[in-house]
Amino acid sequence: MPKKPLIILAAAVVTVVLLAVLGLTVAASRLNQPPEQPVAFTHSFHVSNLGLNCAFCHRNAGQTVEAGMPPVEQCMFCHTVVGAGNPEIEKVRAAWISQKPIEWKRVYRVPDVVRFTHEPHIRAQVDCSACHGQVEKMGVARQESPLGMPQCINCHRQRGAPTDCSFCHY
Ligand code: HEC
Ligand code: HEC
Ligand code: HEC
Ligand code: HEC
Ligand code: HEC
Repeated sequence: MPKKPLIILAAAVVTVVLLAVLGLTVAASRLNQPPEQPVAFTHSFHVSNLGLNCAFCHRNAGQTVEAGMPPVEQCMFCHTVVGAGNPEIEKVRAAWISQKPIEWKRVYRVPDVVRFTHEPHIRAQVDCSACHGQVEKMGVARQESPLGMPQCINCHRQRGAPTDCSFCHY
């Protein structure tokens, strides 16, 4: 056997292994590490101390790309008055005055090949925490555990929801 193809093959294998390790590292580093957000908002205070429902801010989670995130108007319900002088809250008030949306960075995102909407899950009374963890104890949201195909399919099996490829893929 000539030597060259073997070396090329070995190099290819090493590359694939390195890429896989890199991919896993990148995926793991996203867990528990929230993206840097423009405002240091805390879920724990607003949900657990003030008693606001998730739906007060996330009206129709997941209908469209932006639909699940609260508009600044929703914050001004309180922050026209509350928190003047607090630098983080002043950022919210400044966004309102200049009528610019706050550019929250996304935490969860399924790839384009996946069909996901919240609606059937909320209808089947799957709790937010089954997929997003204990958000009411967090500051800004972070992903505590993976939510990929194995997690989707495991729960679908347990709950008798469809597991055919075509239900989740275009
Ligand atoms: C079955 C799992 C699951 C449940 C239950 C669930 N989510 Fe999600 N959520 C997701 C996934 C997956 C995404 C990413 C969707 C995407 O990329 O389009 C997401 C995205 C979001 C987003 C980002 C904006 C958006 O609309 O895509 C918000 C906010 C959110 N979820 C809030 C909630 C709230 C509040 C609840 C409870 C009422 C909830 N989720 C229940 C899986 C779930
Ligand atoms: C029901 C009233 C209410 C709503 C709605 C509300 N907040 Fe607050 N928020 C408060 C109160 C009360 C405080 C505590 C203020 C203080 O300590 O001076 C607070 C504190 C904060 C703080 C300081 C850090 C923290 O979270 O404890 C930030 C930042 C903040 N809010 C951002 C927001 C944003 C962004 C929205 C909209 C998505 C929002 N708030 C909606 C009442 C509200
Ligand atoms: C006062 C408004 C408010 C309430 C109430 C609230 N959230 Fe949020 N939520 C936000 C804001 C603002 C963000 C963007 C900053 C961040 O990522 O934490 C956010 C982000 C999220 C995200 C990340 C979305 C993504 O993929 O980028 C999830 C998941 C989420 N919230 C779930 C919940 C759940 C579950 C509850 C109820 C237990 C809840 N939220 C209650 C305002 C709120
Ligand atoms: C914790 C449990 C759970 C998890 C995790 C979960 N699902 Fe579901 N899913 C359900 C239930 C329950 C239904 C409702 C089935 C029904 O209506 O009978 C459902 C329904 C669906 C439907 C609608 C199917 C139909 O009948 O048309 C789709 C699509 C879907 N899920 C995709 C996903 C995707 C993609 C993920 C992962 C990102 C996921 N689900 C994660 C429990 C879950
Ligand atoms: C309950 C929902 C669900 C079902 C059923 C499902 N998938 Fe997936 N699949 C997903 C999710 C969510 C992802 C994205 C995972 C991630 O974010 O890494 C995915 C990713 C994939 C990918 C990788 C695509 C990419 O570009 O990253 C392939 C290939 C795939 N699925 C094939 C299949 C096949 C084949 C079946 C049927 C045997 C199937 N899936 C059934 C939810 C599902």
